[in-house]
Amino acid sequence: MTADTTPIATLSNVTKRFGGLVAVRDVSFSLKPGEIVGLIGPNGAGKTTLVSLMAQTLVPDAGEISFMGRSLVGLPAYKVARLGLARTFQIVQPFPKMTVLENVQAGALFAGASPSVADARDRAMECLEFCGLAQLALSEASSLTLPNRKRLEVAKALATRPKLLLLDEVNAGLTAAEVDRALELIDALARRGITILLIEHLMKVVLKACARVLVLHQGALIADGTPREVVHDKAVAEAYLGSRFAHALSGKTPGAAA
Ligand SMILES: Nc1ncnc2c1ncn2[C@@H]1O[C@H](COP(=O)(O)OP(=O)(O)OP(=O)(O)O)[C@@H](O)[C@H]1O
Ligand SMILES: [Mg+2]
Repeated sequence: MTADTTPIATLSNVTKRFGGLVAVRDVSFSLKPGEIVGLIGPNGAGKTTLVSLMAQTLVPDAGEISFMGRSLVGLPAYKVARLGLARTFQIVQPFPKMTVLENVQAGALFAGASPSVADARDRAMECLEFCGLAQLALSEASSLTLPNRKRLEVAKALATRPKLLLLDEVNAGLTAAEVDRALELIDALARRGITILLIEHLMKVVLKACARVLVLHQGALIADGTPREVVHDKAVAEAYLGSRFAHALSGKTPGAAA
């Protein structure tokens, strides 16, 4: 096997139950270094749960998750972060009374990515610049708009110096112009060599950013292929029947003539 084909992360038969509900069901896939992979699925499909399992903020009931050749199962979340796996939160969770800069600095320190508080501050500022938030560095986090809070989530994750970044709906609520900027940001992250798993409801973003797409439905992985393959997959079409994705998947706008 060459370095290019050795996975950076592998999930094998991962299952997570909440009481009687199987939120993630026997899911297996690998991510190769440098890939940008989309993870899509209807609301409640298990996408966020899968991210939490990978980051070990949730522990799987069954299955194995490895990252850079070592098992993650049972490791505390901060250790996972220190290994280079970072996630954003769909429900943004900044420390509201801290400044934007302090929030990102805390991210760097949490993951042990900086040897000192001063270094963490420099690192945090660099990440804010990268995410277009430098001008808001000294604002209270609670004062940010939702799109900027999402960017703050990305900056926090980036401050941990991730090799693999799990982005959970960081583009929700953005205008068309902001989406273009978000795409540039994803591109820039990928150019840094960061592997990205992108959870995204906006099909425009998925189709533009990702060469590979995973589809979850009722906790199960029902498709794994190129955007073109996934869009034409029968099981995917059935899973989305009647959902707001049906139009996006077929490339039509709602109400448009066929
Ligand atoms: N902590 C929890 N306790 C109990 N049930 C949960 C918990 N977290 C998620 N669930 C349930 O597990 C299922 C999967 O939820 P999850 O949030 O992973 O879906 P999702 O694909 O991220 O959805 P969305 O697109 O709405 O973000 C849902 O039925 C949800 O209600
Ligand atoms: Mg979710």
